Amino acid sequence: MQPKPPPNPGRRKFLIGATSVVGAVGVAGAAIPFIGSWNPSAKAEAAGAPAIADISKLAPGEMMIVEWRGVPIYIVKHSEESLNQIDKNLERLADPDSATEQQPDYAKNKYRSRKKEISVLTAVCTHLACAPKFYPQLGTTDFDSNWQGGFFCPCHGSKFDLAGRVYSGVPAPDNLPVPPHYYKTDGLLVIGEDGETA
Ligand code: FES
Repeated sequence: MQPKPPPNPGRRKFLIGATSVVGAVGVAGAAIPFIGSWNPSAKAEAAGAPAIADISKLAPGEMMIVEWRGVPIYIVKHSEESLNQIDKNLERLADPDSATEQQPDYAKNKYRSRKKEISVLTAVCTHLACAPKFYPQLGTTDFDSNWQGGFFCPCHGSKFDLAGRVYSGVPAPDNLPVPPHYYKTDGLLVIGEDGETA
């Protein structure tokens, strides 16, 4: 059964980085703006070139998607309300401290990121590789009566919080992987490299 969208589904926008990724992750909409900020050639991409995302226009509560090594990467800018939830759901998480190595060392913190307001997550469920969907709003949904915001995998019901930490008792065994990343400038995010401050 398709999960019912949480309240006010149109309140926040998804910013999509590439049309090819839209199909891959099942997020689409007529009003979706494009951010054409990554463009490694196919050859360079195959060789593992980093993807560069212009996140300067990403607003709190929005998500954009870029592709790195053929895999969609979710970039989420959290609202203050979302950040306040980060410690309030720990008892429901399987690995709240990110003990499993699913992130670089600099992202082994409760936000699982270099900057607490930005999550950079591989959009591949750790169960059987479906694309989890972004449900940032808090409240009741078809799949959770007390949803704290995060990602829901429609294939077999796995849930992840806004930092990509997996819930207990779901098929997915691990948190969503955090790819190597760093900030070239405040508005330019490089995915696929650790940068000099790793
Ligand atoms: S692939 Fe996500 S729950 Fe199975």
